[in-house]
Order: sequence, then structure tokens, then C-alpha cells
Amino acid sequence: MNEHDLYSEIRSKVDIVDVVSSYLPLTQKGKNFFGVCPFHDDTNPSMSVSRDLQIYRCFSCGASGNVFNFVMNYEHISFKEALSLLAKRAGVELKGFKIKESVSKNAPLYTIYELAHKFYQNNLNTSYGKEAKVYLKGRGINEDVIKEFEIGLSLKESTVLKDLMLKKGYDLKTLHNLGLVSDDHDTYINRIMFPLHDLEGKVVGFSGRIYDNSNLNKYLNTKETPLFKKGQLLYHYHIAREEVRIKKQVIVMEGFMDVIRASTIGVKNTVALMGTAMTKEQANLIKRLSNDIILCFDGDEAGRHATLVNGDHFVSLGITPKVIALNNDYDPDTYILEKGGEHFQSLIENAISYNDYKIKVLKEGVNLNSEEEVASYIHQVILEASKWNDEIKQEIVLKKLAKEFDMEYNTLEKRLLELTSEKNKESKPSVKESSLPTPKRKNKYDQAILALLYYMLKSDKVVTKCEKEGLFFPLETERVLFSEISYYYKKYGIMNVADFYTYLTDKEELKSLLSEVLAQELNEEVDKNEVDLLFQVVREYNVKEEVNRLQKKIKEEMDPLEKAKIAERIRKLRIGS
Ligand code: UTP
Ligand code: MN
Repeated sequence: MNEHDLYSEIRSKVDIVDVVSSYLPLTQKGKNFFGVCPFHDDTNPSMSVSRDLQIYRCFSCGASGNVFNFVMNYEHISFKEALSLLAKRAGVELKGFKIKESVSKNAPLYTIYELAHKFYQNNLNTSYGKEAKVYLKGRGINEDVIKEFEIGLSLKESTVLKDLMLKKGYDLKTLHNLGLVSDDHDTYINRIMFPLHDLEGKVVGFSGRIYDNSNLNKYLNTKETPLFKKGQLLYHYHIAREEVRIKKQVIVMEGFMDVIRASTIGVKNTVALMGTAMTKEQANLIKRLSNDIILCFDGDEAGRHATLVNGDHFVSLGITPKVIALNNDYDPDTYILEKGGEHFQSLIENAISYNDYKIKVLKEGVNLNSEEEVASYIHQVILEASKWNDEIKQEIVLKKLAKEFDMEYNTLEKRLLELTSEKNKESKPSVKESSLPTPKRKNKYDQAILALLYYMLKSDKVVTKCEKEGLFFPLETERVLFSEISYYYKKYGIMNVADFYTYLTDKEELKSLLSEVLAQELNEEVDKNEVDLLFQVVREYNVKEEVNRLQKKIKEEMDPLEKAKIAERIRKLRIGS
């Protein structure tokens, strides 16, 4: 069996509708299934999944592909990983097959980071690393942890890495662009190096910590580069992904020392924001890991603030997270060190709902002797409660309030109803469809070409006809897709669009054009008359374009004889010979 057949077998043994519904709920409408697209920020069901074609497509963001593409994009894994995951599901044996990893254009850059990473790791184990080891040991970071988190060391001499890389033939500009060299020296000098990975687990940057008493920035991070975009990554994501699957829960922390420490007590379903405000992308990544989210930030004022901001963010995404509120300025790292793993485990088990946390925070600092402050507090609590979709919970909280402040339940309930109806009014205007893009207006030639490509996927006769006539498509992607379709028929005999997606691998432009082609509402069967008509339209268009080109040429031509020749060609084109 060749690779193509293997991919095709695995693909056809799993149903894309089943696979996608194992990640998100789908509802059937007519022939297709619909769900909320996980690949952009949305609450409308703009993604359709076709059982017939075994492909998915989002009408809003354009994401599309077959079951491999879905799993790769959803899980942020490579084709190879998606293949083995789905092979397992399909019960197909992969042994004996060497699966090629697709090579991205950034491959050489990853190699450079890998080299730097090896260099740093190695330094820590040489005599240069003695002091750093003492520091790490002092923080309770032993050899196992150093290995697990691939911790390294940059050296005191300021150009060692630069010199090493130049000797290997890498140029200074690239090293600058990757953030490894700054000005004329190494970016990282005498720091303990923590590698930062992308979502797939490749090293794409570093964070270097001072370990002597210098008063430089505590941590120095790789600058934003084409590979390292801090706001799109989470520390430890590639490891947490597996752990979350088992524990069905994800814990979000502030710093990577927190993650590292938690790992030492076996808590590995953790990610860290690395000290910055959580971005939309990061929130979506976390949400996709699990709906059971625990926020466990530092016990200081900044940590409390982060809990509130990020908690609200998740609520706006439809998830109420849980909270571990540390006190006394602990962070998870120092808490575990001081109190031990069991205590931390029990914090996890007793994490409180974000709603309860918020009410608790509201009460802090309220002067119970001030009527104004109490009234404002009660109002705030009811305002919070009005955001919940849980009437029982609302009643419990209101009853508690009534009892605590000796008030009539009805007074509180009235306020709740007022606030709820206000909230509903506010959220009315932003109903549905607002997020659907306005489709680009296409002229009849564009439409004809898209339709022809569609019928080519249905029958190779259309392909052959197109080749014979030498029809010309104005856009590069159209021409390339056409030639790929033609090649695919020649190589595999028949067209299967879902397998064709696999064949196109990471050619995103082609896949997105292919999706556009397939999204057309055209006949299932190829109607010869219709195809002839389409040919005519494209042919006319080709002639028009050629005439335009020649007319331009005639204007620029000086030689009257040449001018006459071109005019004759234009005349012939126009009469169609
Ligand atoms: P913290 O200051 O809480 O770090 O910042 P930490 O985990 O307690 O570090 P240790 O224990 O002192 O070693 C949280 C995160 O903010 C980012 C880092 O990613 C850190 O993990 N940070 C902090 C920086 O990027 N630069 C800094 O100078 C400080
Ligand atoms: Mn810390």
C-alpha cells in the first residue's frame, strides 16, 4: 500500500461528523451538520460539516479541510500526529510506514533555536554551570526537573553563542531576527535559560533568569519574532494538552516557575500566561483544552486583579471558571514549597466557583457601618447574579443577602429582575449574522471559473476538455489548483475531495480556494450543456483579455507593418478563428 492509499483508508474509516462532534456539538440541518467554529471567535454556528464529502468549512473565517486538517488545527498537532491519532481510532496499523513530516519554510529557523537550546543545556552541565546549579538546587530544582523542563544556561562571555553560530555558517541578520543576538553580542548573558515552546512543542524562544544578585530584569524573554508571538502561546501547552485529556481540567497560572513547581508534585495539567494579560487567542486555547478551568494566580494585588479580569473574560466566552485564591502573597511555587503537595492538591479539589469568588472580593473592604457602602455592595452582588444563567444559584445568593442584612427577599428579587431585563435589552442589538462576512462580488467570469473547477472535481472529462482547449485562468491559485486536480486524476485515477485535501498538505491558499469551489450550490451531476456554456464564458473572457493586451501593444508599436499584423490578429480573435 502506498502512502496515499494509507491516508485514504484511515480517512475513510473515520467519519468526520463523528470526529468533529467529539470536540464540539453539531446539529443536523438538511444534509449537513453545523456547529460553532472553534477556529475563530464566534458564538454562531457558522461551521458546516459534510458527511457526503467528508469535509468541513467555516462560512465566517474560511477554515476548511478534511478530518486530518480538523484534528491538526484543533489540537495544534502535525500531520503525522493527527494521522496516528486517527489511525488508532480507525483501527489501522501504522507500523512499517515512514510518515514524512511536512517541511515548513521556517524549518531552518527552528534548527537554529534547537542548536542554541542544545548549547544552553550543555553549558549547565559543564564547570561554567556550577553556580547556576547551586542556585537551582537552592530553589529545590533537582536534576530531574532540569531535564524535564530542559533548563539551560547562557554564559558570562558575551559572544560565545554568536561566534558559534557564525562558525556554523548562520548569518548575523538571522540571529538578530531570532532574538539570539542583540547589537554585537549574545542577547542572553549569564542567565538560567528556560526554553519556550510553540503549541506543537518546538522551541521558538527563551526566557532567561538572573541568578546572581545583579539588578537587571529578572526574566528576559525572546522578542516577538516570526516564530515567537507571546500572546499566541502558553507556557507548557504542548505537555498540558495530554494531561488535560486525562484529568479533564486545566489550571492556569501566572509564571512558569509555578508550572514547573506544580509538575514536581505531579500536577502537570497546567499552563502559564508568562506574566502578561491574557489575550483572546490564549483564552480560546485554554477554552479548547477544557471547559473545567481553574485560575490559580499569585496571592498579591496583581494576581487578584488578573483573576478578576481573566475570570470575566471566560464568563464572556460562556464558561464559569473556578478559582484558587492564594493568600499572603503566595504564588503556587512558594505555596507548594512551603506547605507541600498535599495541601496544594486540596486547594485544587476545593477550588471555588468564580461567581462565589467575585462576591467574596466585592465584600472585601466594605464598611458595614456605612449604609451607602452596604447598599452599593448589595447592588453589585445582585448585578453579578443577574449575569448568571442559574436561577437556583441566584435564589440562594439573594436569600443569603436578605438574611445577612435583614432585608425583604422581594426587594432584592425586584432589583434582580430589573437588572436582568436591562441586560437583555443591552444584548439584543448584537444578534446573529453580524459576524458573517459580506461575500466578495464576483463577476460572471470568476463565477464561471469557480464552477468549472467544481465540475472538474466531479469528472475528469471536464479537466481533459480544459487542457485540450488551453483555457487560461487569470489567477495563479486557479491555475495551480487546476493543474493539481489534473495531476491528481492522472496519478490516482479518481477524485476524492477529502483525500485531495490531504494531498494538498499545507498549501493553505489552494485549500481555501478548493473550499470556495466546493461551497458553490451547483448540480451534483455534470450537465454537458452547462459545462459548454461555462467554457464559452471563459473563452470569451480569454479573448477579451487578449484583445485588450494587443490593443495596448498596438498603441506602443511604432512599426506600421507590425501594427498591421497585430490589428489582423485582433480581427481574427474577434471573429473567433
Ligand atoms: P513572577 O514575578 O511572578 O515570576 O512573574 P515567578 O514565577 O515568581 O518567578 P521567580 O519565582 O521569581 O523566579 C510571572 C511571570 O512573568 C514573567 C515570567 O514569565 C514569569 O514567569 N516575567 C516576570 C517576565 O517576563 N519578566 C520579568 O522580569 C518578570
Ligand atoms: Mn514565583
